[in-house]
Amino acid sequence: MFNQIVRFWRRKDTENCAEAEVNELIKRIDKNKLPCHIAIIMDGNGRWALRRGLTRSYGHRAGIEALRDVVRICSELGIGFLTLYAFSTENWKRPQEEIDILMNLLVEYFYKEIDELCENGVRVHPIGRLAELPASARKAIDMAVQRTRENKGLTMNLAFNYGGRNEIVDAVRAIAAKLVNGTLRIEQISEKVISDHLYTAGQPDPDLLIRPSGDLRISNFLLWQLAYTEFWFSSVMWPDFRRIHILQALVDYQQRERRFGGLNKGT
Ligand code: FPP
Repeated sequence: MFNQIVRFWRRKDTENCAEAEVNELIKRIDKNKLPCHIAIIMDGNGRWALRRGLTRSYGHRAGIEALRDVVRICSELGIGFLTLYAFSTENWKRPQEEIDILMNLLVEYFYKEIDELCENGVRVHPIGRLAELPASARKAIDMAVQRTRENKGLTMNLAFNYGGRNEIVDAVRAIAAKLVNGTLRIEQISEKVISDHLYTAGQPDPDLLIRPSGDLRISNFLLWQLAYTEFWFSSVMWPDFRRIHILQALVDYQQRERRFGGLNKGT
């Protein structure tokens, strides 16, 4: 009993420290220099669970809590676009049981969260080859898109059955179809035309990419759009990722000098 009480108060102390740090970080953030678009590779669910002697599915379920907190803070800060990598085209290689869990979590997430997403003005925009998903997942995604379509706050791009190379293949096919039917000429193909045929058409490219869990790679995510994105890596596993980490990433991001291949004034 005593140990339980000590653990409880230790947890309280940690929460209080985190709250103090959150407030401190919020004070340091320049609201006029926030990124328009944040992209996140939600990684580390499996390792988080295995380290606790749990099966990987617990890690994915715990990852929902992180997702909820991150969507909230991005919404509160007035971030325009948040792209979340939830299921890649390569994730089909995983055991069927894990795939089923991820599909079910997607459905559960949207039905549970839809009211809060609407209250916060979040607009859901799925990206990926949605036609290849099971009917239940497509139905949940359609519901979320329909219910949030008029919302004017954060646009949440949920990358599901998403692959960066596939996205480029789909764009090339769409452009080629226009060449064939005569609505586009070869000399009209430009960077903008390609961007306009990606799943993220009409959106700014990500300013900041966050990857938790210690791996330093982009894993077929937003290959075209990340050309000049700032990267921020963390060893924190996704299920432990919270608003405090987003704020840390933002403070770091705001200290960077973005030159986009040019020179800054005075250099
Ligand atoms: C990568 O961690 C994570 C995924 C493949 C799934 C991400 C899913 C969630 C965050 C929760 C579900 C959210 C929705 C909306 C369905 P990993 O399994 O590769 O972890 P590991 O690298 O430690 O093995």
